[in-house]
Amino acid sequence: MKETVAAERDKASTGLDKVLDKASTELGTSSSKYVLPRVTPDMRMRRLRSKAPLRAMVRETHLRLEQLIYPFFIVEGKGIKTPIKSMPGIHQQSIDEMLKEAEEAVNLGLSSVLLFGIPSSKDSQATGAWSDDGIVQRATRELKKRFPDLMVIADTCLCEYMDHGHCGLVHDGKVLNDPSLEILARSAVSQAAAGADIIAPSDMMDGRIAAIRAALDANGFENIPIMAYSAKFSSALYGPFREAAESAPQFGDRKSYQMDPANGREALREVELDIQEGADIVMIKPALPYLDVISQTRNLTKLPIAAYNVSGEYSMVKAAAANGWIDEQKVVMECLTGIVRAGADLVITYHAKDVAQWLKQPG
Ligand code: PBG
Ligand code: ZN
Repeated sequence: MKETVAAERDKASTGLDKVLDKASTELGTSSSKYVLPRVTPDMRMRRLRSKAPLRAMVRETHLRLEQLIYPFFIVEGKGIKTPIKSMPGIHQQSIDEMLKEAEEAVNLGLSSVLLFGIPSSKDSQATGAWSDDGIVQRATRELKKRFPDLMVIADTCLCEYMDHGHCGLVHDGKVLNDPSLEILARSAVSQAAAGADIIAPSDMMDGRIAAIRAALDANGFENIPIMAYSAKFSSALYGPFREAAESAPQFGDRKSYQMDPANGREALREVELDIQEGADIVMIKPALPYLDVISQTRNLTKLPIAAYNVSGEYSMVKAAAANGWIDEQKVVMECLTGIVRAGADLVITYHAKDVAQWLKQPG
């Protein structure tokens, strides 16, 4: 029996030997030139890669529709849908237009959206961030009225509403920490009152998770979760977003509150603190240059982790795809799968609608 198998194998390999001999003659190499180590049975990693259904069976990571969060940029007015040049496919839009796109998102099977507001007037107190008829508050009410099952996540920050474009109160050219907490908390409470399902503070002031948690609880919103932008790096990849949200700082930069991109251990301290302060979901932002931080956060906590695939990451892919330099669908799926493989449970991405389509009809 054993011999028969061996004989069969020899017979099969005769054909193969001929092919190899022919190849080495053509290449001018001789099969005896190198002494190659034998490929042992335990080295055969390619066994599980031989057929598509087999590859699918052993695939470890699956991007799911429910993991995707789609951002909206909302402006005052009616019938407004202004393309953002550096982010093809993404618009600043008035509430009526946003509702149409929300319906599209719902029909595609997306479960959540993230709201950024661009008020018509800005001031030094970020009034638009916490007034009951602020742009995000109104958009939230309209969205929840029409799509009660769509999870509305409110971005809680001040930069879009401040005339100076910083994420906190400014005095003498400095961004103040503690006084900013009061308005951030007010803003979060007004968003929850408008019906927001999740509060997402992106300002990076110290102690804001504790402040917002306390304010929500004191106002009867103890069941509204906080998704904390815990490790938000001071990144050049936010450039296109600042065009979209009209939130670029008018002086200086955000380095006194956002993190140094070089600091991984400090990022974990930020995550730990936000958890102590009461965060329900922790976020790492941006995503792709910080996969190590996502992965280390995965080992640090059992809380859900969100990753923000930011505007610059989107623009780079879009620009290369528009030039025909990369295959957009394949690159996007690879990037987002990588973010999930690193440990993210949720991914905020401007590609969400496209991905929803692709997941329905795999290309
Ligand atoms: C503002 C804010 C920014 C982003 C989300 N919220 C920009 C910034 O901090 O300057 C970036 C999102 C993106 O680039 O897609 N607090
Ligand atoms: Zn901000």
